[in-house]
Amino acid sequence: MAITRVGFIGLGIMGAPMAANLIEAGFEVTVWNRSPSRTEPLVKAGAKRAESPAAVAAACEVTLSCVTNSGDVEEVAIGPEGVIHGAAAGSVYIDCSTISPETARRVAEQLARKNVAMLDAPVSGGDIGAKAGTLAIMVGGDAAVFERCRPVFEALGKTVVHVGPSGAGQVVKLCNQIAGGLNLLAAAEAIQLARRSNIDPAKMLEVVSAGAAGSWMLSNLAPKAISGDYAPGFMVDLMQKDLRLVLDAANETHTPLPGTALVSQLFQSIQAEGRGTDGTQAIVDAIEKLTR
Ligand SMILES: NC(=O)c1ccc[n+]([C@@H]2O[C@H](COP(=O)([O-])OP(=O)(O)OC[C@H]3O[C@@H](n4cnc5c(N)ncnc54)[C@H](OP(=O)(O)O)[C@@H]3O)[C@@H](O)[C@H]2O)c1
Repeated sequence: MAITRVGFIGLGIMGAPMAANLIEAGFEVTVWNRSPSRTEPLVKAGAKRAESPAAVAAACEVTLSCVTNSGDVEEVAIGPEGVIHGAAAGSVYIDCSTISPETARRVAEQLARKNVAMLDAPVSGGDIGAKAGTLAIMVGGDAAVFERCRPVFEALGKTVVHVGPSGAGQVVKLCNQIAGGLNLLAAAEAIQLARRSNIDPAKMLEVVSAGAAGSWMLSNLAPKAISGDYAPGFMVDLMQKDLRLVLDAANETHTPLPGTALVSQLFQSIQAEGRGTDGTQAIVDAIEKLTR
């Protein structure tokens, strides 16, 4: 049966535009956010407001969340007012936050005892991709449940791939953060050499972005960095949360990740300046500081 009633928990930088795209796609959307004021634009756009994550789940066939970290997902999914207390047997919970694969598996196991399926479905593409509905979505969990939820994913993203069982989506997201972090470092070093060689970094970016070294980071974040725009699409504090998850997974699997460790230390120097809420393009300043 086609899915019509979809819920969304966590209306932050990512969640709000994702929920808006579900409304736009024609789903009946119910929303909840810890700070209630963030529900207002969605309610204006046609969503219903629920009083708790449990109430969202009770109203919906599929409930999504996009909150911050592992503990936050535990709270909204299996906490005292969590999804687990409202979701009907046969319904689906999809978490789009970036959290530890182990937490995703544990929450999925608890929900399964109530016959509620969970997909871990972290996303990539930033606030820009969330608004445009062009996110890349990496999904772990039961393949048949994934297929049933495909129309929901198609309202949110352009590239949606089932990558394996429960937790696998989160592992792939950690791979994504390795590549994203190192791409940012590459952009920062390229900008710094251009500046110190008296070459306009904007011209450098224009041509380098179009060649073999092009990347999303180079096209979208490097121009912000050179114009001094540090407003977050993705905050340094959140990146560090993800890189900690990556390095934990590296320790567990004895996988040396020297580049990721370096990127994390450079972000630490930005946090040490009290700039954890800046966007990740601030890594450019971490490299610039080395030449002061
Ligand atoms: N921003 C990006 O570019 C990006 C890209 C890909 C993936 N992600 C991931 O997506 C997730 C959300 O990121 P974001 O940038 O949207 O962050 P954000 O703007 O800080 O939003 C976080 C949202 O989670 C809610 N929240 C946090 N802890 C909660 C808790 N314990 N209980 C209930 N609600 C809670 C917040 O509610 P309040 O409004 O009450 O604070 C807010 O709605 C993170 O896991 C992040 O790593 C982000």
